[in-house]
Amino acid sequence: MNIKLFVSTLSLLSLSYANVYKFNVVSLSGSNNIIGVKYNNQLTQLSTSAFPLFTGVVNADKIDNYKYVVMEKDGKVIEEESINRVYSESNSIINEVYNRTTKTVDVIDLPKVFNSEYKNNSEKYPDFPLNEIFNIYAKCDNTYDTLKNQPFLEDKKRNDVPTNCTFNIITPNEHYLTTGSAHIIGYGSRLYKKVSWGLKFDSKIMGRKAVKIRALANDPTLMREKISADLYNSVGVPVQRGVYARVMINDDVWGLYYLIDSLNKRWLSSYFHGGEKSKVGTNYILVSTHPTGPYADLKYIGDDSLSYIEKGTYGLDEDDTDDLEAIKNNQNGYYRLINFTKMFNDWILKYGQNKSEEAIPELEKFLDLESTLKLLAIETLTLARDNFWLVMSNTALYYNKEINKYVFIPFDFDELMKGSKSDYFPDNYMDECIKWAGEVSGLERHFIDNILSFPKILERYNIILAKTLRDAFNVKAFTPYIESVANLIREDVQWNFDLLDKLPTTYDGYTNHYTLQNFEDNLKNGKVEYFKGVIADNNPYGILEYVGIREGKCKAYTKDVKIPIEDEITTSNAISLKISITLIISQIILLLFF
Ligand SMILES: *[C@@H]1O[C@H](CO)[C@@H](O)[C@H](O)[C@H]1NC(C)=O
Ligand SMILES: *[C@@H]1O[C@H](CO)[C@@H](O)[C@H](O)[C@H]1NC(C)=O
Ligand SMILES: *[C@@H]1O[C@H](CO)[C@@H](O)[C@H](O)[C@H]1NC(C)=O
Ligand SMILES: *[C@@H]1O[C@H](CO)[C@@H](O)[C@H](O)[C@H]1NC(C)=O
Ligand SMILES: *[C@@H]1O[C@H](CO)[C@@H](O)[C@H](O)[C@H]1NC(C)=O
Repeated sequence: MNIKLFVSTLSLLSLSYANVYKFNVVSLSGSNNIIGVKYNNQLTQLSTSAFPLFTGVVNADKIDNYKYVVMEKDGKVIEEESINRVYSESNSIINEVYNRTTKTVDVIDLPKVFNSEYKNNSEKYPDFPLNEIFNIYAKCDNTYDTLKNQPFLEDKKRNDVPTNCTFNIITPNEHYLTTGSAHIIGYGSRLYKKVSWGLKFDSKIMGRKAVKIRALANDPTLMREKISADLYNSVGVPVQRGVYARVMINDDVWGLYYLIDSLNKRWLSSYFHGGEKSKVGTNYILVSTHPTGPYADLKYIGDDSLSYIEKGTYGLDEDDTDDLEAIKNNQNGYYRLINFTKMFNDWILKYGQNKSEEAIPELEKFLDLESTLKLLAIETLTLARDNFWLVMSNTALYYNKEINKYVFIPFDFDELMKGSKSDYFPDNYMDECIKWAGEVSGLERHFIDNILSFPKILERYNIILAKTLRDAFNVKAFTPYIESVANLIREDVQWNFDLLDKLPTTYDGYTNHYTLQNFEDNLKNGKVEYFKGVIADNNPYGILEYVGIREGKCKAYTKDVKIPIEDEITTSNAISLKISITLIISQIILLLFF
């Protein structure tokens, strides 16, 4: 017997028993710590070339179970996760997250009520996934410390200085690195210690060069902004949707955010024009300041652009420098706004008195009326307290030059879905599905009051409201939808709230010390009061409780509304409709022939 051969066969055999195990995990501890993997009573340090993603390969006979541990740089273990992980091929290619179970959550969307006229994302600018949480790590320069400690400068002026950063964004399956910058966004939201940020990227990430990460600091469910965006989307109003993200900047762990698109040229081109930037038209932002005013009333006040600029209620967000007609009229980028207010003014002058039916197709020649009414319906259902109907705010007016029509785009949803009373709501606001937006001193609802004074337009609004209530805005549709989103973020909730007290900042912003229990309660019918020291405001309704009440009230308001058959065809039910039509036809054929 050849002993040599025997030995080498043996070593080959033992080699083949040693398998390769791969680990990829995102750390949620600061950059002073490292991550290790513990298996079969052994510990292996993982390494990182792009913090906070740690990776490593282990050769072992067999690994069934493992956990990740947090270690100091010298190798001392300081924390071990309580999750007992089971090794699988599929997990080994996923970027796992420390302290979070690796699972596939089937997050559902709200049912589609109407098709969107627009939604036409290019492949280069894909939608954010529904069932993932991103991880964002930003390494920023010294300016960052000044920002987090002083979101406001003297006289409560916003500190909008950017800090340069490198970003490392890790999703379950992807990994993006880029340089760029970050700045604090919002005014009201920066009263809170957990501030919201705008991020700019030098290289595109999923087709984006800018996104916003919203702090959700005033919502025990962390879901109201997402729900609002999903509602607009479900009725087909153009809207920026997002994805949850865990955020770390330098050594600070900021918690769970809602990452959304910025309203900018890239988004407009992708959303409306299949990615073609040359087709993007002029975009304005309606800026109203309540309670003092001034308010954007969309009134025509002559052809002098200065009158509009001096009002201070319209921001020129996107100036289309290829708009020849605008160039000819030379109105400092305000031509399209003046064009819209003038056409609307002319329309009212012409049809305001007799309200004849031809008024509607005339209005639709320059306005996407359908989308406007959908937007109003969603604001009614969500009782939007800082948006278009109530205070003419947080809305863009976009000139879609491709179809030569204007369309309103809603944004900033931190005051929706709460149900709590606004100073401008009438006492019976909860019962109201048409007159909920009460008087605001100094604001004339020139645009909305005028369009709704047309019986045919009001009728259409009622139909949209009725169909939205039947198909999406109801407890039956909301229950599984909310539960699926809760399943996605639940493990991050307590962690997120607890971070408030750990954040090293000298900024004395508002803090809400919510708990996981508050989260669970407020999703259903638990009232969660704001904690002391926080703005005099409260969040009396749980989400499902709120939806149930609003559903009941607005169904009563629309009880006599008949939904026309042509509204029944959406992408989701078109197929079943086709099938039933085919069935009917085949039955007719059968009847005819036999
Ligand atoms: C991991 O989870 C445990 C238990 O929930 C918690 O005490 C710990 O702070 C978490 N660690 C990190 C880094 O999130
Ligand atoms: C930030 O980056 C910009 C663009 O690269 C550069 O002009 C600026 O000087 C940088 N600021 C700081 C503080 O480094
Ligand atoms: C989407 O945009 C592309 C490119 O502009 C165009 O070819 C396509 O027809 C559009 N699709 C829809 C549904 O509008
Ligand atoms: C508004 O713009 C449209 C399209 O460019 C143009 O046809 C129309 O004459 C303009 N109307 C007014 C009142 O400026
Ligand atoms: C309403 O007024 C417009 C403008 O004066 C006119 O063109 C139209 O014929 C009127 N319609 C009816 C039904 O009176």
